[in-house]
Amino acid sequence: MKIAIIGGGPAGLYAAILLKKQRPEAEITVYERNRADDTFGFGVVFSDATLDNFEKYDPPSYRHITQEFAYWDDIAVHFRGTVHRVGGNGFCGCSRRKLLLILQERARELGVILLFEAGVDDEARFTDADLVVLADGINSRFREKYMAHFQPEVDVRSNMFAWMGSTRPLDAFTFIFQETEWGPFIAHAYQYEVGRSTWIFETDPKTFKRAGLEGLSEKQSADRMAEIFGWFLEGHQLLTNRSMWRNFPMIRSKRWVKDNMVLLGDAKATAHFSIGSGTKLAMEDAIALADAMHHAPTVHAALQQYEEGRREEVEKAQHAADVSLVWFEHVDRFWSFDPVQFAFGVMTRAKAITYDNLTLRAPDFVREVDRVFAKQVRARGFDVDVEKPVAPMFQPLRLREMELANRAVVSPMCMYSAKEGVPGDFHFVHYGSRAIGGAGLIFTEMTCISRDARITPGCAGLWNEEQEAVWRRIVDFVHANSAAKICLQLGHAGRKGATKLMWDGMDRPLEEGGWDVLSASPIPYFPDSQVPREMDRVAMDAVKAAFVAAAERGKRCGFDMLELHCAHGYLLASFISPLTNRRTDSYGGSLANRLRFPLEVFEALRAAWPAHKPMSVRISATDWTEGGITGNDAVAIARAFAEAGVDLVDVSTGQTVRDAQPVYGRMFQTPFSDQVRNEARVATMCVGNITTADQVNTILAAGRADLVALGRPHLVDPSFTLKAAAWYGADVVLCPPQYLPGKEQIFRNSVRDRQDFDDLKIKAKPKTRAELKAEATKPLAAE
Ligand SMILES: Cc1cc2nc3c(=O)[nH]c(=O)nc-3n(C[C@H](O)[C@H](O)[C@H](O)COP(=O)(O)OP(=O)(O)OC[C@H]3O[C@@H](n4cnc5c(N)ncnc54)[C@H](O)[C@@H]3O)c2cc1C
Ligand SMILES: Cc1cc2nc3c(=O)[nH]c(=O)nc-3n(C[C@H](O)[C@H](O)[C@H](O)COP(=O)(O)O)c2cc1C
Repeated sequence: MKIAIIGGGPAGLYAAILLKKQRPEAEITVYERNRADDTFGFGVVFSDATLDNFEKYDPPSYRHITQEFAYWDDIAVHFRGTVHRVGGNGFCGCSRRKLLLILQERARELGVILLFEAGVDDEARFTDADLVVLADGINSRFREKYMAHFQPEVDVRSNMFAWMGSTRPLDAFTFIFQETEWGPFIAHAYQYEVGRSTWIFETDPKTFKRAGLEGLSEKQSADRMAEIFGWFLEGHQLLTNRSMWRNFPMIRSKRWVKDNMVLLGDAKATAHFSIGSGTKLAMEDAIALADAMHHAPTVHAALQQYEEGRREEVEKAQHAADVSLVWFEHVDRFWSFDPVQFAFGVMTRAKAITYDNLTLRAPDFVREVDRVFAKQVRARGFDVDVEKPVAPMFQPLRLREMELANRAVVSPMCMYSAKEGVPGDFHFVHYGSRAIGGAGLIFTEMTCISRDARITPGCAGLWNEEQEAVWRRIVDFVHANSAAKICLQLGHAGRKGATKLMWDGMDRPLEEGGWDVLSASPIPYFPDSQVPREMDRVAMDAVKAAFVAAAERGKRCGFDMLELHCAHGYLLASFISPLTNRRTDSYGGSLANRLRFPLEVFEALRAAWPAHKPMSVRISATDWTEGGITGNDAVAIARAFAEAGVDLVDVSTGQTVRDAQPVYGRMFQTPFSDQVRNEARVATMCVGNITTADQVNTILAAGRADLVALGRPHLVDPSFTLKAAAWYGADVVLCPPQYLPGKEQIFRNSVRDRQDFDDLKIKAKPKTRAELKAEATKPLAAE
């Protein structure tokens, strides 16, 4: 077999090694355009898990690599004169040059042919090769040449970065967030061998310009960085090696294989440097290719297997990298944060590290995070314990005069079980049990302002006396038997009205018994849905009056809070999104125009609703589709509602149009809450695939939302909050006297269960290489 590998970076060399081990008889040649020791960059970083993989696949190169590595366990975050260190991270660094020399030596030893200064312009010279590996890096000429086939998508990110080195020793992966007269600069730095560290500097394009970095030579820009970070460099040099300022390209390719050619490493996909996974991904690609070549009957089958088997892993890493890079791009959002909360945000930015996880690794740090959170709550007039504070989830919050005992919320969820809008026994038990379960705030399902405002025939309403009486009974029960507050969500279905119950076909039009529907524009939801009537001024006035009348009824029922539903493609949302609003009058066109009617309704409700009671608005912060609402629009929408007196923005997303493409995942809507909260400076509630109290605490402690709503988890567990309180030992959740024995039992057992669980986790976690090294070099205790 003949294998040609274009590119002698980590991907190409490691693929050559693994393939040669597998097929000693094969002729494997690596073509590298540079000289053997001619490499750009400074250090690379691997996690312990990646090194485990290297150990398994090629012990000799693993041994060499690990002899040369610098290990560290801590991440240190420097911000506004403070430093916070978190241990247990298990990373190691190595010089890129040394890594390549080790891989070259190992490849040579196995009989791989290495050709340097051998740039390849055209792969046609490899017609006799059975396999051609395209490992030619981020600017892959071959990916570009076959662009129509590989379909690369290149997302050039806005921040500028430059990769430099230094002689400054470091004992932790170090992030420095540096305020300057021009704006924020970030350094990502780590040591990779004795006396050498990698320094990646990053800044936003405006700060870059203001700092005069544009057009400076490598040396001049290194001098500028040395001035900015001089206080930390302590006289150590900054070193350059092709350290040009660039924008990071996030590259994704639709296809990785063409005939007998396969893309590997950066050539096929990149991952932002802030998660330090580029070289790891490149070498793990080589592992995946070698595995596929080992198991598949033909080269063609192997390449298919490589692409199919590897894609999910790469996309997951890219998603984590995306989330992380967005955090760094928007670091100014958090600049005014307390340094402890800021450091917590840095640590938890990419979802893998959470509040609980940090509690195990760095309990003192998390206690400080809790204390800072509690101090902020205390500063708002609550008499909470700041020395031994409860976890953020159990801290109170005030909106106008409404006080919530904790930050957990039952999200609004339609039960589709009302008769002519009248809630029944099911609703009574449903809301009552969730209130007893301990959540600080309970939302009603979307409660419709009139019969024709319903989504389905099973939707609840508040347009007549009978409905008002039933809601009053529910509210009274909640108030009499729990500490929960209850918020009335008012809405109008718009073009999604007159549709079937959820379990009969969500959003599908009713076959009989329907009613006429309204919207901003006459666009049906499904092609076969009813074409809605475009609202005229008369209809707008009638709808506004119905909203106000329902709010008046809500006031009489004793609801604590009122939410206006402007999300999910319903009537008011249909005005806000350009995808559903095609109007040419003053209610269509610009965002300000599209917001006009929803704001009018909000203002009318605000005037009718008691001044001491809060109001929220639910928005879809993105339509998840081209041409629709984006996160930036959501900030503008939130600002407009804040000016009109909103106390909380309930940040949901999507459900505007059928062909949207949401990117689901854990806590997938939280980044929008983060953006709205920290850019528009308004309190937010986040929601969406948040399933654990650990996630709730992570979100709150990082300042990404003020309240956290859970929908589906509460459908199966009314006592989610009480159970979480027991787990965290936060004895601040009220329980009715009838249930006290149950509460006492779970609080008692949870202490032991939690201890067992933590012990198991600690035992299951292997020692990091840094810990093992520290142990091995520890002097023996004197006898
Ligand atoms: C600022 C910065 C910081 C980074 N930090 C880290 C980090 O901390 N940890 C980490 O793991 N990764 C890091 N990376 C990423 C890492 O450098 C790459 O992801 C990794 O090197 C990818 O390996 P590769 O083999 O796919 O590509 P490369 O290492 O780019 O290798 C491609 C090789 O192909 C050669 N080549 C290109 N075209 C041709 C041709 N036509 N003919 C012959 N040869 C050719 C090139 O000369 C090069 O040697 C960082 C990247 C940047 C930009
Ligand atoms: C059965 C069901 C009914 C829902 N009804 C409403 C509703 O009436 N009003 C609303 O704003 N959101 C409604 N939602 C959306 C939820 O409030 C929540 O945003 C969504 O379920 C995502 O959160 P989760 O992942 O915690 O479930 C509903 C969701 C479900 C599952």
